[in-house]
Amino acid sequence: MELRLAEVFAHLREAEAEAGAPLCAYLYDLAALDAHAAALAASLPPGCDLFYAIKANSDLPILQTLAPHVAGFEVSSGGELAWVRAHFAEIPVIFSGPGKLDDELRQALEHGVDCLHVESRHELQRLAEIAARLGRTAPVALRVNLTLDALAETPLMMGGKPTPFGIPTEQLPACLDWLRERPEIRLRGLHFHLLSHQLDAAAHLRLVAAYLAQTRRWCEAHGLALDHVNVGGGIGINYREPARQFDWPAFSAGLASLLHEAGLPGVRVRFELGRYVTAACGYYAMQVVDIKHSHGKTFVVGRGGSHHFRTPYAQGHSHPFHVLPVDDWPYAFARPQAADQRVSVVGQLCTPKDLLAFDAPVESVRCNDVLVFPYAGAYAWHISHHDFLRHPHPAQWYLPVE
Ligand SMILES: Cc1ncc(COP(=O)(O)O)c(C=O)c1O
Repeated sequence: MELRLAEVFAHLREAEAEAGAPLCAYLYDLAALDAHAAALAASLPPGCDLFYAIKANSDLPILQTLAPHVAGFEVSSGGELAWVRAHFAEIPVIFSGPGKLDDELRQALEHGVDCLHVESRHELQRLAEIAARLGRTAPVALRVNLTLDALAETPLMMGGKPTPFGIPTEQLPACLDWLRERPEIRLRGLHFHLLSHQLDAAAHLRLVAAYLAQTRRWCEAHGLALDHVNVGGGIGINYREPARQFDWPAFSAGLASLLHEAGLPGVRVRFELGRYVTAACGYYAMQVVDIKHSHGKTFVVGRGGSHHFRTPYAQGHSHPFHVLPVDDWPYAFARPQAADQRVSVVGQLCTPKDLLAFDAPVESVRCNDVLVFPYAGAYAWHISHHDFLRHPHPAQWYLPVE
């Protein structure tokens, strides 16, 4: 996705000039998101459906921008389900996530979800009873924690090893047998989401190929008539080297031949992408309130911090940023600055863990300049501990779809 830095900077400059206090804000470029989502959906070969995993960013303007482009939303809690249904009465919804409560299973059926992703035999049994009590049939995909011989790992593994997610491969046959006696459950598909942070298009193609090959073997062995395979999300963002992103064109091109060879006629392939859809539309901006030198290191202190933007700490990376110069300087004394050196960018929290960037080279940064962190549109505000220290929340701005 193209970053429209000129438009983002222009908006921030204007906002800074009007603000009576150091700026701290999220800015979402909905026009860029709209174009990105349209391009992603259009690039998928026939037989594929793009869902958006709203856990990445469930803000209403984001969902409203995405709704026309996606086949539906994937939700992972009763709260997300209620949020989507309150604003989108008709959109297809997939309900997944570990530890679902009976009440959430019931709500999913009552809200007419398109498919429930079941995480365990126990969850399946509870769902069957709840569906029977309601006199409904539950559309289900079984989430499988698939073991693969040569699984290329990423920094965030959800399967392929012992994890709390999905039904382990060896337990699947017993679940399938059990399902034969349960007309309340309609087995529609299988669901795989073994990893996130995938940056290698070729490795991801191999992973999807392995999912489809295994699905075909199970269909043959157990006489399954599935209508889809959900291959999860997991496409990453290269925060460390932003110029080298996942090669989506290569991936979508490879997908076409892969589907052709999969030998699963009539079985659609679903994607439920989160990070790759929304990360690049979001920016976190913090105005510099102090610059300090301590024991040979330089610290740039911005207004805000990891209680707003936890992504760098959560992923253990130094987040890239741009310096937006602000020439206005209201004091009589010299302006603190750092030039041609490496800095750490920290926030206002009383913990050394409040670190957004480290060993980051800067040409020039001065107090009152604005730091702009790109790729802050997914797992950013929504995963942060907003009320720690009771600092005010950042402004939330949206550049509209023209
Ligand atoms: C089951 C499931 N599907 C989809 C996603 C979205 O993953 P990503 O944002 O990496 O695309 C997640 C993320 O945790 C997930 O757990």
